[in-house]
Amino acid sequence: MWKKIIGIDLGTANVMVYVRGKGVVANEPSVVAVSRNNTVLAVGNKAKDMIGKTPDDITAFRPLRSGVIADYRITLAMLRYFINRAMGNFWLVKPDVMISIPVGATSTERKAVIDAALEAGAGKVFLIKEPLAAAIGAGLPVGEPIGNMIINIGGGTAEIATISLGGILVATSLRVAGDTFDETIASHIRKNYNIAIGDQTAEKIKITIGTAIELPKEENITMEIKGRDLLSGLPKSIEINSNEIAKALEENLNSIFQSAKWVMEKTPPEISADLIDNGIYLTGGSGKLRNLDKFLSNLLHVPVFVANDTQFCVAKGTGVALENLEYYKRSVN
Ligand SMILES: Nc1ncnc2c1ncn2[C@@H]1O[C@H](COP(=O)(O)OP(=O)(O)OP(=O)(O)O)[C@@H](O)[C@H]1O
Ligand SMILES: [Mg+2]
Repeated sequence: MWKKIIGIDLGTANVMVYVRGKGVVANEPSVVAVSRNNTVLAVGNKAKDMIGKTPDDITAFRPLRSGVIADYRITLAMLRYFINRAMGNFWLVKPDVMISIPVGATSTERKAVIDAALEAGAGKVFLIKEPLAAAIGAGLPVGEPIGNMIINIGGGTAEIATISLGGILVATSLRVAGDTFDETIASHIRKNYNIAIGDQTAEKIKITIGTAIELPKEENITMEIKGRDLLSGLPKSIEINSNEIAKALEENLNSIFQSAKWVMEKTPPEISADLIDNGIYLTGGSGKLRNLDKFLSNLLHVPVFVANDTQFCVAKGTGVALENLEYYKRSVN
């Protein structure tokens, strides 16, 4: 029990760290600020605050793309920062670390995560597939011989899986998630209003008024947004509403639905029959998109629930899986 156990959800948008006995101790954006001579200046919240507000010679990086390492050195710096945060100032014994990876990660991508974590100070490193971690973190009975299904939608990827007896039965992953929604919203506004908006504004629109299905008139809320008019080059403000966001997102959400349908079709019938009673659980930050549960449930004809603390499910699941390694051994490596 003296050895520290750390679970890390190494996400495209956010890194979350779970420590045995403490729960989730860190939740910060996956951003690293680097100077022109390649020195790492800040990680996480501090680095995100620097975006757009710093002199030109500081660059903010998101070292993960679609859940896998796009820049090894920067990811290493980020892991070192988070492991140190979890360990406190003074430590002698290296911790065991469990890290979540996308279902589609290649062996090279997996090895990069292991190498980076070892170099960052981990003693032993274990990997777990993100939807399995999400299911464990959501508290689903994954160890039992019944069907569970997870749709985990983060910033870079949507991962969909059916799970039974502690293992993944059928899984797929698509590069359509929160970042894609933001890009779609920005492009909708560019095309329809000739206005350019930044990533952060697009994300704010999504969170504030975004919805997956169109709302009745009285619930269709509006929001004023400011951007740059592409014709005049000057600032301009316009009003947009929830229902136009629903329309804009329809194609992205349909791709997620199609993938979920594919997973259901490939899952053995006894397992998919369980889903009629147990339902599907949505996890990940984008699982919070308004009415996404209803949208998917209407199309898939099974109940869809948003898991409690949806954004923390994967981090919690990585930690719980490491605490119960004997039990999950088959699904972890
Ligand atoms: N209330 C909300 N409504 C819609 N989207 C939201 C909401 N809150 C957060 N998000 C989105 O959730 C995404 C981040 O989710 P999460 O932290 O699960 O991603 P991640 O694990 O870093 O990414 P990935 O799993 O793809 O590597 C962002 O795109 C963010 O805009
Ligand atoms: Mg994630």
